[in-house]
Amino acid sequence: MKKCILLCLLLFSAYTCVSTQQNQPKNLVSTVTKNPILPLFTFTINNNEEYFISISGPYIVRNCNNSLPRPIVPCDSAACVLAGTFNPHQCPLTQNIITQRGCVCQATAFEPFKRICNSNQFTFGNFSMSTLNPKSPSVTFNNLNYLCIPQPFLADFPPGVFGLMGLSPTPLAGWNQLTPPRLGLEKKFALCLPSDENPRNKGAIYFGGGPYMLRNVDARSMLSYTRLIRNPRKRNTYFVRLYDISVNNKKILLARNTFDFDSNRDGGVALSTATFYTTLRSDIYKVFTEAFLEATSDIPRVSNTTSLEFCYKSTTNFQVPRIDLSLADEKIWTFFAANSMRKVSDAETCLAFVNGGNAPEQAVVIGLYQMENTLMEFDVGRCVFGFSSSLGLVNSSCGDFQTRL
Ligand SMILES: *[C@@H]1O[C@H](CO)[C@@H](O)[C@H](O)[C@H]1NC(C)=O
Ligand SMILES: *[C@@H]1O[C@H](CO)[C@@H](O)[C@H](O)[C@H]1NC(C)=O
Ligand SMILES: *[C@@H]1O[C@H](CO)[C@@H](O)[C@H](O)[C@H]1NC(C)=O
Ligand SMILES: *[C@@H]1O[C@H](CO)[C@@H](O)[C@H](O)[C@H]1NC(C)=O
Repeated sequence: MKKCILLCLLLFSAYTCVSTQQNQPKNLVSTVTKNPILPLFTFTINNNEEYFISISGPYIVRNCNNSLPRPIVPCDSAACVLAGTFNPHQCPLTQNIITQRGCVCQATAFEPFKRICNSNQFTFGNFSMSTLNPKSPSVTFNNLNYLCIPQPFLADFPPGVFGLMGLSPTPLAGWNQLTPPRLGLEKKFALCLPSDENPRNKGAIYFGGGPYMLRNVDARSMLSYTRLIRNPRKRNTYFVRLYDISVNNKKILLARNTFDFDSNRDGGVALSTATFYTTLRSDIYKVFTEAFLEATSDIPRVSNTTSLEFCYKSTTNFQVPRIDLSLADEKIWTFFAANSMRKVSDAETCLAFVNGGNAPEQAVVIGLYQMENTLMEFDVGRCVFGFSSSLGLVNSSCGDFQTRL
């Protein structure tokens, strides 16, 4: 709990003060789209610009060119010092640039798919987003800090993707730039990532908290909360504490400290929006898949045609065992077939977990496929992570969230 308090204190660090707006909405909302390339999830800001949702990104990154104004952030400003402090751990430290106009703040972005780092000018500018408030359906916020990177950074991203919305648990992240003293929103955001059963199915992103109206129900009542854990070596990553994994209510047998950080602060259980399938270190994967195979021994297996290893004949009535992650604060995140099995073709449905090898950075990375069609709330102010079960269980989907007036 102490670590968590530290994280919270960190988020109250000072910024250059900017005048706040009047008649502020309580929350902001936008539509999330699943893009089949990579795959990645994006949402819309500034009316028509798509931003990749990166929960491990420390700042907003924008693809920009010379026609966009680039005001200088001084190197000795609080924002520049914070940008250096929360440099992505995968990248070298950023060097600021001295020019005739003074020292110009630089920052570095990490592109998680090709795993490349790119430094450029850290600047500020105006952004707008929608609200569900009929009196101010759209709000503009002035002078948000962002990193301006010209093409070819994000070169492989689909057309229309303008940048990367960093939503890590750190001060310059997009969600935190909308909180006091700048704007009045609470220190949280929520995501519902659509699954591709229906290509028109859209998801939702909310900044500032609920209500999250799923048709006529406030979906906050569906959330279970577990604490967020901090790792000083990877401050841009959200970690949760996992105690056990069960298959059909049976705990798989692993050493007690399997999911903990090791003495180097590697290991642990991270959440990632740049990892498609939940990835398990090979010792965990082996015991987990053995338990899964035993529990599904009466279902005909077929050989795999994709990187997913364990596949079954697709049938309409698939009885697969439930998979439970037993998390801190006695909360259980359950995956049913929609989030544990991937239908690859009419003939093949595969277990949607992958082997991360012997020495991955994390013991477990909870990936996008397991998050789809689930409401997740990152309540960074209270250092807790809320999750629902699959919305399919209540005959609903992310597309049922109200994201426009
Ligand atoms: C430069 O970027 C702006 C805003 O991102 C865009 O509207 C404009 O078309 C771009 N210009 C060129 C020449 O790419
Ligand atoms: C942001 O908006 C303010 C007020 O409308 C304007 O003065 C300023 O030039 C804008 N900044 C940029 C970088 O466009
Ligand atoms: C089947 O899965 C295994 C383990 O993930 C992988 O090594 C192998 O290449 C896969 N087969 C095909 C045809 O993709
Ligand atoms: C599930 O929702 C759909 C509309 O989204 C509706 O047509 C259908 O009847 C519902 N099924 C059940 C079992 O409630």
